[in-house]
Amino acid sequence: MSAPSPMEISLQNPQDTEIPDQNGVIAVDSAPSPSLPQDKVLVSVEVSLKPSSTARIDDVRSAVERMLEKRSLSYTDGPVPVPPDDQFLTENVQRICICDTDEWVQNHEILLFWQVKPVVHVFQLSEEGACEDVSGDGQPSTFNEWILPAKEFDGMWESLIYESGLKQRLLRYAASALLFTEKGVNPFLVSWNRIVLLHGPPGTGKTSLCKALAQKLSIRFNSRYPQCQLIEVNAHSLFSKWFSESGKLVAKLFQKIQEMVEEENNLVFVLIDEVESLAAARKAALSGSEPSDSIRVVNALLTQLDKLKSAPNVIILTTSNITAAIDIAFVDRADIKAYVGPPTLQARYEILRSCLQELIRTGILSNFENCESPMLPNYGSLKEKLNMPEVQDARTLHMCKQLLETAEACEGLSGRSLRKLPFLGHAALASPYGCDPSKFLSTMIYTARRERSELPD
Ligand SMILES: Nc1ncnc2c1ncn2[C@@H]1O[C@H](COP(=O)(O)OP(=O)(O)O)[C@@H](O)[C@H]1O
Ligand SMILES: [Mg+2]
Repeated sequence: MSAPSPMEISLQNPQDTEIPDQNGVIAVDSAPSPSLPQDKVLVSVEVSLKPSSTARIDDVRSAVERMLEKRSLSYTDGPVPVPPDDQFLTENVQRICICDTDEWVQNHEILLFWQVKPVVHVFQLSEEGACEDVSGDGQPSTFNEWILPAKEFDGMWESLIYESGLKQRLLRYAASALLFTEKGVNPFLVSWNRIVLLHGPPGTGKTSLCKALAQKLSIRFNSRYPQCQLIEVNAHSLFSKWFSESGKLVAKLFQKIQEMVEEENNLVFVLIDEVESLAAARKAALSGSEPSDSIRVVNALLTQLDKLKSAPNVIILTTSNITAAIDIAFVDRADIKAYVGPPTLQARYEILRSCLQELIRTGILSNFENCESPMLPNYGSLKEKLNMPEVQDARTLHMCKQLLETAEACEGLSGRSLRKLPFLGHAALASPYGCDPSKFLSTMIYTARRERSELPD
């Protein structure tokens, strides 16, 4: 292996045969694994219940399994329509979605129903929203808490676009860590931990990816852990001007987390965003420019995290905007370190395509001559489409070319900037209503170039 390229996870054997696990995470090994019954590929099927549903999870799972058995189609990522003649399912199920087949499809082209063993995960989204810790004295809150899977994070995983299987690998490593714990693997014989560090430039989706990963795992592991929480620690708030309070705040926070963890049916995710702020605070304190209290706060936090690490049902998710080594003890021990970089051309095209498709769906982009809203091809099939212009609808083809040109013009922009670009482009239009897609895309290219010229070197 050469040096890890952006988006490579720096793990021991990234190119190894990937072993399918029991949590519906798909096998990517080209040779069928002997451990699978009839050499079938495990494919996750996520079933979201309606908020009003009170059906038993097991009943819904069986009904979906029966429904899937009757299907003789190929498996690709995306929604499966709920059969309208199935009253039980139509009453209870909001959405059925096939997940994680893309890697297989990339390597093998097609996944047919007889090759698949669907693994059905049924869940109901929590609508509670973030619950802030309210201290009431004007201090910034030290943490936010969500019950997972949360409505707020629905669709987030799918909206994040990376190449080279970054998301799948994160999911698999976290799943393996949970499995090792569950099976009681002796940590003196095989060592592993449950700390994830995502690092890279700002705006590349690290915080979102942590939240989306927690959400995914809460769905995939819900039969083992029926309850799941995400605690987002606000590291900045721990260094507020009330330093004398900070030690107490840390203690209070971790006492709460400890209580959650003691309940063995709970799966707890602790997200510590921008851990470099902890390192910076410690450094500033050592150089005398900040009160030495901050050392104590950082140390208290690290000690507490170390303690927490030994609990089997905790996953600690951390992010850092600094790619250079961070001077924090626990980060060194993160097993799963992944560099998250700015999107590649393919990812940029896909991000912009999803934006455009959304503007078409909502009618902000209209004026399609044939009255039918086009489906823009994905990057994979783009080349083929561009090479066979005669079979394409000329307008769609033109849009694709413009979209590709915009994606090329966006080199160096973060995912965050890309998702804002359509808005900026729209705002720059002279007539914002009934907007013509082609005109819109021209403005986008112009806006992209302007945004890029404003980037620091
Ligand atoms: N690779 C990506 N694919 C899709 N969207 C992205 C990507 N990277 C960033 N974004 C968008 O940017 C937003 C901000 O990302 P965020 O998680 O705050 O980044 P970070 O924590 O790295 O600064 C996300 O909500 C998402 O909409
Ligand atoms: Mg962030």
